[in-house]
Amino acid sequence: MSTPIVNSQLAEAINNALATVIDPELRRPITELGMVDSVSVSDDGRVRLAVLLTIAGCPLRDTITSDSEKALFAVPGVTAVDVDLKVMSQAQRDALKEKLRGPGGQRGIPFNQPDSLTKVFAVASGKGGVGKSSVTVNLACALAAQGLRVGIVDADVYGFSVPGLMGITQAPTRVDDMILPPVAYGVKVISIGMFVTGNQPVAWRGPMLHRALEQFLTDVYFGDLDALFLDLPPGTGDIAISVAQLLPKAEILVVTTPQAAAADVAERAGAIATQTGQKVAGVIENMSYLEMPDGGRMELFGSGGGAVLTERLTATVGADVPLLGQIPLDIQLREGGDAGVPIVIGQPGTPAAESLAGIAARLAAVPRGLAGMKLGLQPR
Ligand SMILES: Nc1ncnc2c1ncn2[C@@H]1O[C@H](COP(=O)(O)OP(=O)(O)O)[C@@H](O)[C@H]1O
Ligand SMILES: [Mg+2]
Repeated sequence: MSTPIVNSQLAEAINNALATVIDPELRRPITELGMVDSVSVSDDGRVRLAVLLTIAGCPLRDTITSDSEKALFAVPGVTAVDVDLKVMSQAQRDALKEKLRGPGGQRGIPFNQPDSLTKVFAVASGKGGVGKSSVTVNLACALAAQGLRVGIVDADVYGFSVPGLMGITQAPTRVDDMILPPVAYGVKVISIGMFVTGNQPVAWRGPMLHRALEQFLTDVYFGDLDALFLDLPPGTGDIAISVAQLLPKAEILVVTTPQAAAADVAERAGAIATQTGQKVAGVIENMSYLEMPDGGRMELFGSGGGAVLTERLTATVGADVPLLGQIPLDIQLREGGDAGVPIVIGQPGTPAAESLAGIAARLAAVPRGLAGMKLGLQPR
């Protein structure tokens, strides 16, 4: 027979163990989220734990069960663990949402709140196929690996590719009107690809794109992030304008190849910042060269595009636009994308991965929240 925990030392150890169990979607301890319904232990060390899931069909129920078992078995004196999964009542769900969103269930875009410290990066390019999405997922994974809290919004609605690049097949969980993004490599990801069945095309006009993006930014629960990346479609179309409207503080990262023609088109994507009042965080040159077996470098797409673009954007936007890095061509980068394992995770020692990690480190070095903000200082 199990009785409520009386042995206070064991009780404390069990509670501490449960506090290490992180909800895989909400990324917070289950104890904090009101997910522990009851816990008891019998004289022979058998723990009975009842966990409250947010919704009945929670896809991560097995993860929560095994993580709880693992944590509890690590407590000296625990001999057996029974995990019972229940589902929250509406009142419990409301309490959870209030805890996550703040009193009254704050709506609107959290990244625009005056106290938000999230750095928002919109990854843009002139042309498609220059590696925007590959760069986005690798930068996000590199920052998450450094311990930062990171999210990605796949804003390339027609050409979504982030779920594939991150190996995500799981659909987001819905808790009433709140959408919980799937997590891969510690990165929270939302994409229209998670809402369409199969490989159906999305055929929407501008206003629908805007609304989809707005819903991603308001209804998806990202929690407190250090960095949010938006993978934009190529060019200066509807989405780029919507991002500027919805997230005026988003800084633009321009991806280009070394080719002069690519840099020309990319310049327009970056120069849009002068019209929208956004900041250009920097230029990333991708596919810069191919390392040859003899150690030489073959410049497949020419050279200098990144440097030229940096100079021109600095002149156009009237502020220093740095060249953040040059990423070589690497078959493993493409293979990692196809396999859903970004190269910074799968092959961290390669020059391409090291270049990406270096760029991520530069982005992380800018103190979060302060960049581009007026400090309100008055001249004396
Ligand atoms: N540095 C690189 N080395 C090798 N392949 C790359 C590199 N960067 C991107 N690719 C490949 O090029 C293709 C286009 O990249 P992608 O990230 O989808 O570009 P975009 O999002 O700009 O359209 C993908 O197949 C990707 O794997
Ligand atoms: Mg893309």
